[in-house]
Amino acid sequence: MTIQPIADEALAQIFTRARTHSVWSPTPIPMSIFADLYELARLGPTSANCSPMRLAFVTTQAAKERLLPALSRGNLKKAASAPAIAIVAQDRNYLDRLPELFPVGYDARSWFNTSPDAVAVHGERNTMLQAAYLIVAARALGLDCGPMSGFDRDAVNAAFFTELPWDAKLLVSLGHGAEPIREPRKPRLSAEEACRFL
Ligand SMILES: Cc1cc2nc3c(=O)[nH]c(=O)nc-3n(C[C@H](O)[C@H](O)[C@H](O)COP(=O)(O)O)c2cc1C
Repeated sequence: MTIQPIADEALAQIFTRARTHSVWSPTPIPMSIFADLYELARLGPTSANCSPMRLAFVTTQAAKERLLPALSRGNLKKAASAPAIAIVAQDRNYLDRLPELFPVGYDARSWFNTSPDAVAVHGERNTMLQAAYLIVAARALGLDCGPMSGFDRDAVNAAFFTELPWDAKLLVSLGHGAEPIREPRKPRLSAEEACRFL
């Protein structure tokens, strides 16, 4: 079977030309894009389809004002002008949905809930995988992204999730970068350094 990569332009949009942005064009993004984004991101694989990621899209000025105080000083300005910021959260109770998401005739929760630590490790692993799918999906839909882990998790949870069992893991600014990034891309490890072919 021949391997058929997607077109070079598509690869450029998602990987080779795509950069992390922190200065944003004021051009708004349509609210409908968030549903499209989730529709794509949710299709990426997770362990036993456990799908622990939950998303809160911060788009209004009022919601932004609740979010911004939780950001680190360096991230404050980067996020303030973004048309939207996705709070990528993990549902602490994600396993409750497993019987429905992985209907195989027995209870697959036993694979995960061998200890509270194991539940958390599986949940975090799969939430962060889904966060990566979100970034790839956003780029595929023509958006730029600015992921940020520099924020006070407890403050975000207190501002947004007091009535939900959601735990904020990552913020991703979404929009159109205001200008091409002039700073060259930082080096990546070479395949020789980062890979072993066994
Ligand atoms: C999980 C994660 C957390 C990050 N946290 C921050 C952050 O708090 N502040 C920031 O300015 N950039 C943050 N970044 C952006 C990275 O520094 C940036 O994506 C990386 O240097 C690659 O840049 P490039 O996409 O332009 O090549 C984060 C990226 C990821 C994936």
